[in-house]
Amino acid sequence: MRRWMGISTSISFSNVQLHLHHQKNCALPRRYHSAQALFPRSATTTAKMLIAILALLFLSLAYGVHHIISHQTGLLHQIFTQNIFTTLQLARLIGPPNPNDLVTLPDTIPDSISTSKISTAQALATQRINHARSIIDFSYAGPKLELEDRLRLRALANSRLVVAFGIDTSLTSSSVSVHKEFHKLANASISKSNADWQKLYEVSMNFLQREKIGRNSVHLAECVRCLCFVVVLVSQFEADLMKLDGSIVKQVTDEINTQWLKSKVNDGTLKRSEKLKRYLYTLFEDPEKSVVTGAAISSTQALGLIIPQYETLWRVVLLTYITAYHRQSDRRSLKKRVRDVPACLGNAAIEKEALKLAKEGLRLYPSNNSIYRALPGTGPPISADVQACHRYFDVWGPDALEFRPERFDNLTPLQEKAYFPFSLGSHKCPASRGFGNRIVTMLVVSMGRALSPETGKLNFRDAQLDDEVGTPLPTGRDEMENWSWDLVLVQRS
Ligand code: HEM
Ligand SMILES: *[C@@H]1O[C@H](CO)[C@@H](O)[C@H](O)[C@H]1NC(C)=O
Ligand SMILES: *[C@@H]1O[C@H](CO)[C@@H](O)[C@H](O)[C@H]1NC(C)=O
Ligand SMILES: *[C@@H]1O[C@H](CO)[C@@H](O)[C@H](O)[C@H]1NC(C)=O
Repeated sequence: MRRWMGISTSISFSNVQLHLHHQKNCALPRRYHSAQALFPRSATTTAKMLIAILALLFLSLAYGVHHIISHQTGLLHQIFTQNIFTTLQLARLIGPPNPNDLVTLPDTIPDSISTSKISTAQALATQRINHARSIIDFSYAGPKLELEDRLRLRALANSRLVVAFGIDTSLTSSSVSVHKEFHKLANASISKSNADWQKLYEVSMNFLQREKIGRNSVHLAECVRCLCFVVVLVSQFEADLMKLDGSIVKQVTDEINTQWLKSKVNDGTLKRSEKLKRYLYTLFEDPEKSVVTGAAISSTQALGLIIPQYETLWRVVLLTYITAYHRQSDRRSLKKRVRDVPACLGNAAIEKEALKLAKEGLRLYPSNNSIYRALPGTGPPISADVQACHRYFDVWGPDALEFRPERFDNLTPLQEKAYFPFSLGSHKCPASRGFGNRIVTMLVVSMGRALSPETGKLNFRDAQLDDEVGTPLPTGRDEMENWSWDLVLVQRS
């Protein structure tokens, strides 16, 4: 409990910010005493109330004006949503405080919120954001780099993937022709119509329904990995699911994960996986068992196309599904937001609300926590911390760690600048023009419907995660292996 002795406010419309200064334990200013003398006791109270109501109206107006003029700071909004302003406190703001009243303040209010403090913090965040952007768009290495040079810097930083998977793609090769060829193939699969989204949604729901058969508990990480792999197979290669052997999908995705984890250790023992090679041969080249018909593509090329899609999808889908469906309290707004999925997907006019689910998921849980680039000389690769930029309190507000798709209703210019889940500049992901958000939304919504919070309960097997629904989830690829969705047996009456 704190004693609120004196407070003064000033609302300046030049930069539309509310300044709040309150002093602790200061002597009561003289003018308060004289104001007290001006009014008899009861009249003072009535006057205070009147003034309070007027002030409330005035502040509401100021709030509106603030919103219309700019969404620069969000500060006023923060202060309002923190419920600092009860009528009583408003009376304190404008009238003489009664020294006998104790006012309890929420603990979240800092001792002083000053414009200069906020702009210093924002300036620091802006500096860090600019630094990250310069790494991602290659400007750190000099102005106007040639395509070859950009590819080389990126390929060097991603070289462990070549060893782990034997893939030769735009992300791992410095050859301009490989880059263009790869881009063309990726381009071909990302212009989808509404009908395609309907079909992919059905593939996804069928897969999940089958996963549930005969089980009381679904291993979430494994389930999502297989789901994403299957959907990418259909989306990129028109794979024939009738021919698809479920156990192969499980083994392929397991092996990719193992290789990825090994490649991070980087102790010189990393080798291409023979197992992975065999599975991929079966999937893409075996005359009897291949799931793609008439594909003029080697299994290595196929893997090169699958990795940037599959690897960027599975964790963000899992984390967004859990956060939106199992840890966010307001499920009604979620249901409304995604009501028209999948029919709305691909239709810019009606898909907007649903896609905010993916946008917010990719903010908190960007597929690439960091983006790596080599230095022009020698030395270890440098990295841009994408996740940090997506989470700065000074940019995103005090609720930066909360899952709130509605924040994308309008972003401030600084937030726009701090958000780059699909990279930046000339090497921006080709899926950034809509496909990425759509496929994440489609997958998350199918998960939410098939493994719904109404029919099952999430089990993290981790006391802290099981209890605290407000904290962000861990994002490491080996930190999700114990999580399951456990069927809740509902008694029918
Ligand atoms: C949520 C989904 C996705 C996310 C978050 C994502 C993210 C990214 C990021 C951050 C990069 C840049 C890496 C860098 O700058 O080093 C990138 C590049 C790339 N992505 Fe994606 N991606 C997603 C889905 C996809 C899909 C579905 C495809 C293919 C259809 C795809 C194909 C590519 C390709 C070809 C590149 C290389 C671009 C180039 O070299 O210019 N991505 N992606
Ligand atoms: C891929 O699509 C984009 C946008 O339509 C286009 O600018 C780019 O040139 C395409 N790349 C290739 C290699 O076809
Ligand atoms: C980063 O993005 C690229 C391109 O989508 C992808 O291939 C790669 O797997 C991502 N890195 C990680 C660590 O997920
Ligand atoms: C998963 O559970 C096992 C067995 O209880 C435990 O040893 C392991 O540390 C857990 N993994 C994670 C990431 O919590």
